Formats: sequence, structure tokens, C-alpha cells
Amino acid sequence: MQAIVLVGGFGTRLRPLTDTVPKPVLPVGQVPMIVRLVGQLERGGVDQVTLALGFKPEHFNSVFPDQRCGDVAVQYAVEPEPLDTGGAIRFAADVAGIDETFVVANGDVLTDLDLGALVGFHRRSGAEATLHLTPVDDPSVYGVVDADESGRVRRFVEKPTPGTEPCDLVNAGTYVFEPRMLERLPSGVRTSVERQTFPAVVADGALYAMATDDYWIDIGRPDAYLRANLDMLSATSPLSRAEAVDPAARLDQTVTVAHSVIGADVTVGAGTRISGSVLLPGAIVGEQAIIEDSIVMGRIGDGAHVCRVVVGQRGEVAAAARLDGVRVPAPEATEP
Ligand code: GTP
Repeated sequence: MQAIVLVGGFGTRLRPLTDTVPKPVLPVGQVPMIVRLVGQLERGGVDQVTLALGFKPEHFNSVFPDQRCGDVAVQYAVEPEPLDTGGAIRFAADVAGIDETFVVANGDVLTDLDLGALVGFHRRSGAEATLHLTPVDDPSVYGVVDADESGRVRRFVEKPTPGTEPCDLVNAGTYVFEPRMLERLPSGVRTSVERQTFPAVVADGALYAMATDDYWIDIGRPDAYLRANLDMLSATSPLSRAEAVDPAARLDQTVTVAHSVIGADVTVGAGTRISGSVLLPGAIVGEQAIIEDSIVMGRIGDGAHVCRVVVGQRGEVAAAARLDGVRVPAPEATEP
């Protein structure tokens, strides 16, 4: 089965991390997000993946230099300009020559969904397209999906007023499509599959949805990206567990690390304390620093104390600085 994975977004909410690395190439639990995602698709029966790309495509070549991921063939469909989700699916489907039932996945979703079960549900219902749904704690900040008992979607309700939500189920970003869905996506035209195409399929009674309570996280915001990394440390993680400290990291023996992920090529000086944080490959931390609940790709000076901070590859926190809840460099100062 073929799959299209949408990985062409700018990832603005994850800046400044995404100033230099596209979101799906960022590691989650020491492994690039896209590698985890393709592995998940492979377990569900996918053997050919087309990456719908635009932003910083060269980074994906270095993740898949031989255009393979396990037993999955990986090819690239690089859009000449961003076509939004719907236009990107059509562009990638044309490149891949898709003419059978196929899977579409958002490149920023980590889940242990049984994809085979979603495909089976899709085939039994005779749907034109089927969405995976997941429950969320606060549906009022999402668009919820209201479906009948057979799974047929009745309507989308955008950001329902608290207390009036018909359910707590939202679009989880994995879909099964019949090839005739492509006729709804005009070639070369910016189209949102979520906002424009799905409502039209609902009007025709041909959109279905299947809810599961599997592990699910959208890594699009820094807090979620941090949580996804730390979830991989848990012995009960449904996804493959991560090493807390990569063997290629260089940590002084007096460094203390609590509930954190430290990547390859990270350097940390004497006496530094790290908790609830992710240090991405290449990060450099001085001596006697304190790093709490933060994501660090760049440099932290000696004696600095950072809490809930996101430091991009070009970011530098000065020695002895005290920072709480900021991004370095500030996103407005950076280029997309
Ligand atoms: P933000 O800028 O932080 O909202 O992130 P994003 O750009 O990734 O947008 P969003 O999370 O809403 O996108 C959902 C999925 O669609 C992600 O996997 C994106 O990579 C992908 N995506 C969004 N726009 C495009 C596009 O124009 N082309 C392609 N190929 N993918 C896209």
C-alpha cells in the first residue's frame, strides 16, 4: 500500500528549532520523527511512502540517503510552492502515480494506531475517505468531528463553546483515501484538505471516521515536542523506547541528568544539572548551569539558569543569564 506523508509545512510554532531543521527531521527520543512515522506506517502494511515536501527538502535526503527506510521505498515530491495540505496531497499523488486505496499522514503526528484496522474499517464502510479520530481533554480549542454510530461523519464543529461540544473527538491526522478523492483536489491549486475538501465529502455522505484511544501526540508546539521526547523514556511507552543519554554525548562525570533526553554530540560541562529537558544533537552547555523543562539545540553559557526555554541552533544564552519561558533567538528575529 502507498502512503503520502505531509512534511512541507514551515513549522512556525516550533521556531527557532525549525529555523534550521524541518519539524519532521527533529528527533523524538533520539530518532528523527519521520523515521518513527514511516516505521509506524510500515507496521500497518505500507511499503511505499511519498514525502510531500517543500520547506528545506535537502534535510530529508540526509535522513534517507538511499531512499529507503527499513523495507519501505521513500520518494520525494517537492512542490514548487506551498500548496497547503490538499494541493500537496494531489501533487504527491501525481508524482507517485497513485491509483489504489492509499494512506495520508500528517508528518507531525506520533501514534501507535493500528493502521491496518483503520484501512479495514474504511473498506467495510465503503467510504471515500476515512479519518482517524482521537479524544482530547479540551475540545473547545479544536475542531471536533461528530459522527453517527456507523462512523459516518455528520459535521465538523470548529472550536465549540465549552459545554456544548457534541463529543471530544478531533481529527488525528491519519487518513485512508480512495483514489477518487484526488478528483476533489485541483492540480497546482492551494487547497486545505481539512477546511475545504472534507466538508464537501461530508455533504456527499462519503466521509467516515474511526476513533481510538491509542497513544497520540501532535509535536507541533514546543510543550508537546518536549513531552513526546520524555514519553519515550517511560518503560510503559507504547512506542519504541529511547536511551536517555546517547553514548556519543560528552558529559562531564559531575553532570546530573533527571528525566531528560541528551542527544549525540552534546557537550555538557562540570556541575551542570539537567531535568525534564531535551538537549538536541550539537548542543553545547557550559559548567555549573541549570537547565529545567527546556529544549536546547544551541549554546548555554557557564552558570546560566534556564527554565521552560527553547534555544535554536543559532541561539546562545549568555553566562550567568536567568531565563524563564522564552525562545532564543526570539522567533520574530528569525527567518522562516
Ligand atoms: P505551523 O507553521 O507551526 O502551523 O506548522 P506546519 O507548517 O507543519 O502546519 P500544520 O501543523 O498545520 O500542518 C499539518 C501538516 O501538513 C504538517 O505535517 C505539515 O508539514 C503539512 N503541511 C502544511 N502545509 C503544507 C504545504 O503547503 N505543503 C506540504 N507538502 N505539506 C504541508
